[in-house]
Amino acid sequence: MTVNVVAKTRCEIDAITRRLCHGLNGCLPPRPSNSRVAGFEGTGNGRLCFPDAPECDVIRNQSMNTPDQLQIIFGRRSIRVFKPGKVDEATIKMLLQAAMAAPSAVGKDPWRFIVVQKQETLATLAPELANGSMLNTATLCIAVCADLDAAHDRQLSYALQDCAAAIENLLLAVHALGLGACWLGVHPREEKIGRVKEIFGLPDSVMPVACIAIGHPGEAKEARTRFDSAYVHWEKW
Ligand SMILES: Cc1cc2nc3c(=O)[nH]c(=O)nc-3n(C[C@H](O)[C@H](O)[C@H](O)COP(=O)(O)O)c2cc1C
Repeated sequence: MTVNVVAKTRCEIDAITRRLCHGLNGCLPPRPSNSRVAGFEGTGNGRLCFPDAPECDVIRNQSMNTPDQLQIIFGRRSIRVFKPGKVDEATIKMLLQAAMAAPSAVGKDPWRFIVVQKQETLATLAPELANGSMLNTATLCIAVCADLDAAHDRQLSYALQDCAAAIENLLLAVHALGLGACWLGVHPREEKIGRVKEIFGLPDSVMPVACIAIGHPGEAKEARTRFDSAYVHWEKW
């Protein structure tokens, strides 16, 4: 279904979008089951309109069209329940390659990774992190750290941004390969930083950023976006 919209101002676009969100409800064509994402309203032709009014909440959680190419992004969710199962070394290397394909400031790549597979170490880490008990059932954990000596301008802020980009790539790769993962925050909590540094014997210049629990998913979560038009400004704040 194609909908042509003519509007002169952002307000008009918002108003028309709201009407479309209502008007299209119930008249969307069938879609393939592998291209559904909660939170987006589709026009049936792969285009998106955005539910930005309270009245759209009725259909906000319905499944709608999204481009197949973006399924990996919308389908990635924090998985906190794991089933037993191995993750082979080739897969782990692939995940690390994906992480290190992320952008980094001036290409400095200050990210460093510690791959933890020993049950004993996972159990030691578990009580130190929020929701960390999932590490007791995860197959592995990848601790993502920032080497401040390697960061652009030796700035922690650049290093953290670079590591966050690498982490998101890692999470997307995990999901793409049919595994599940959860970001367990370390930085900026001083007590967590201290314990993780101690557990891994990190040098002073290396800052632990997060631990990523990885394993075979033991829970299924719906693909979705948390899109909110109130968070978006056009041209000016
Ligand atoms: C910086 C950061 C720290 C996080 N720390 C934790 C954590 O310590 N424990 C946890 O269970 N989830 C943690 N998460 C995951 C978020 O809770 C999760 O991404 C959010 O609720 C959205 O859900 P989703 O990942 O399924 O889309 C963290 C995420 C980020 C970006």
